[in-house]
Amino acid sequence: MNDLKKLLPMLGHTRGKRSAVTCQLKCDNACSKAVCNTSTNNYFRDIVSTEFSRRSAMGIGLAGVLSTAVMAQGNNGNGNGHSNNGQNAKLAFTPIKPVDAAVDAFNVPAGYSWQPIIRWGDPLFKKSQDFDFANQSAEAQAGQFGYNNDYLEILRQPNGKQGLLVCNHEYVNPQIMFPAAPANDAEKALRRNIFRNAVGMSVVELERDKKGEPWDYVRGGRLNRRITLDTKFELTGPVAGTDFVKTAADKEGRFVLGTLGNCSGGTTPWGTILSGEENFNGFFRTEGTSVEDRRYGLGNNVTGMGWELDDPRFDARGEAYRNEPNRFGYIVEIDPENPNSVPKKHTSLGRFKHEGANVIIADNGKVVAYSGDDERFDYLYKFVSKNKYKKNNKAHNMTLLSEGDLYVAQFSGDSASEIDGTGAVPADGAFDGSGKWLPLVVNGKSAIAGMSVQQVLVYTRLAADKAGATKMDRCEDVQPNLKTGKVYVACTNNTNRGVGANAVADEANPRTKNRDGHIVEITERGNDSTATTFNWNLLMLCGDPAQNSTTYFSGFPAEKVSPISCPDNLAFDTQGNLWISTDGAPSVIGYNDGLFKVGLEGSNRGNVQQFASMPRDAETCGPIVHDDESMVYVAVQHPGEDGTYGAHTSYFPDYVAEGVTPKRGEVRAPRPAVVQMFPKGSGKGDGKDKGRDRDKGNGKP
Ligand code: FEO
Ligand code: CA
Ligand code: CA
Ligand code: CA
Repeated sequence: MNDLKKLLPMLGHTRGKRSAVTCQLKCDNACSKAVCNTSTNNYFRDIVSTEFSRRSAMGIGLAGVLSTAVMAQGNNGNGNGHSNNGQNAKLAFTPIKPVDAAVDAFNVPAGYSWQPIIRWGDPLFKKSQDFDFANQSAEAQAGQFGYNNDYLEILRQPNGKQGLLVCNHEYVNPQIMFPAAPANDAEKALRRNIFRNAVGMSVVELERDKKGEPWDYVRGGRLNRRITLDTKFELTGPVAGTDFVKTAADKEGRFVLGTLGNCSGGTTPWGTILSGEENFNGFFRTEGTSVEDRRYGLGNNVTGMGWELDDPRFDARGEAYRNEPNRFGYIVEIDPENPNSVPKKHTSLGRFKHEGANVIIADNGKVVAYSGDDERFDYLYKFVSKNKYKKNNKAHNMTLLSEGDLYVAQFSGDSASEIDGTGAVPADGAFDGSGKWLPLVVNGKSAIAGMSVQQVLVYTRLAADKAGATKMDRCEDVQPNLKTGKVYVACTNNTNRGVGANAVADEANPRTKNRDGHIVEITERGNDSTATTFNWNLLMLCGDPAQNSTTYFSGFPAEKVSPISCPDNLAFDTQGNLWISTDGAPSVIGYNDGLFKVGLEGSNRGNVQQFASMPRDAETCGPIVHDDESMVYVAVQHPGEDGTYGAHTSYFPDYVAEGVTPKRGEVRAPRPAVVQMFPKGSGKGDGKDKGRDRDKGNGKP
């Protein structure tokens, strides 16, 4: 057992979670620590609501509202609304079999091919150094694609030949990013600087000869950009310029260097990218004694990255940088079409472990953003802008997330008395009920007694506790379906549900020790995205039906679905199917994580079909489905995560294994990468990515 593994509190205890290494590196072992939410606010078994009767789905098309935003449709599709029961001729596939977690392979359906677009270390700029695994430097990394890609968007120009890839880089893995352990303290310090430049975000131009073909990334693309820990962000909203965010280095409280823990995100109808600052707490050392620190998992510990050794702002114990952690935990917005723009941190959407945020335009023109707090027993939030969306006015639209109302969700079940934690379907045939969006900030005023607007937005978790929000099983991606207005919430898992003093199962989180996760479907009252009440039901209780008798797929026969566990990121195709990527399945059901399609309507509702399987130890991120051109994309995060220097568990994506002499430029280590998947033949791809150089024409730069 190597040194890192000795230090992993989650080793052997990751059931319902993920690799112990991922727990350590990504989440600061959140699941091995006490539950942050010790509030005694009601879970909904105590709140029986008959206020709203169950409404039928309205199916009012909202796509028209957004149809002008061609560049912004991204993974949400922009189809004609024609439905053929969820079957899509262009992306027809036979589901793949689940792949044993010990296998290192990237699998797609028969008749499909895949190839990487870009991987960790690929150079973005003319002057960038080529990736040299054995001689990496901070300077080189600042000009290269970052590590552990998560949220992914590919914006397309109408001609289909140019595109723009935008990606988050959530965290790093020091154990497999180098050929050997650091030899001394100086080398450790060099690596800390490499890590600073390996996180953040990337913007990369794409090119291809014809719409529908696989993309090449463009080295030296005019819009290429790396956002790192040194990139300046502007705070917006009520917290900007207040004492909550002033530090020795930013006495005005207006600008923050960098973004951290960027997990999932969203693409706005005006073509900007939102990114969620998720596990930011693990990067800071604080006094850790305050109620606020504890509620956010901040503490007086040596951090995993150790940046406090080089940069005083990561040591928030003294007065100078006490507020630095208050400057992370937000939704950030970047304009990928302007590489010189200053990205924004929107305090109006509150501060918590934002998985991401997804936007829909309500019928009245206001912009609604949904966001989950990915922590056991934390909450689901909704933001409604004060001002309205204006077509073709990006400058105006980029102000919409700076001012508005913030709500948190409270769910009530209509079969509450029947919920016993076993996952048994209630007598009315559904896990369902009504809900309220409880106000936190409305019309510029705090709705929480004893808390100012600024306090609500900086200590949002504490405000939501007071409001009486429903404790959820880790809300990951929250995605409105732009065609129906319905909202889908991936609750990834929560093995602490019903354990000890923790909240017991309720109808919206109906399984004790929920190891496989579930998906909530919300229908806003009157199909109005700005409504303060809603109806809800569960689309599915995930799991491998062969191993778990408590799965539920909205009545679809369990024996016919692909086994699925730990739902994480969501996307839609133009036919209205939901696509689900997973994170954590290997340690729960023994299969590698994957990408799945599920029908939402008619006889196909609940029919889960696996499209792709990830390499060993990897999580599936950022799915995008461009079914108009039969193209599917994923960001493959932490392949080979459980390996160590020179003893790798994956060689994705280039599969240069030990004992094989690498060709020039090949690397004998796993590399997180963005992958495109497409039907074989018809002149598409040869399975090899070539890359393009703006100055040299086609061919690997
Ligand atoms: Fe970064 Fe919630 O997963
Ligand atoms: Ca019910
Ligand atoms: Ca995630
Ligand atoms: Ca999504």
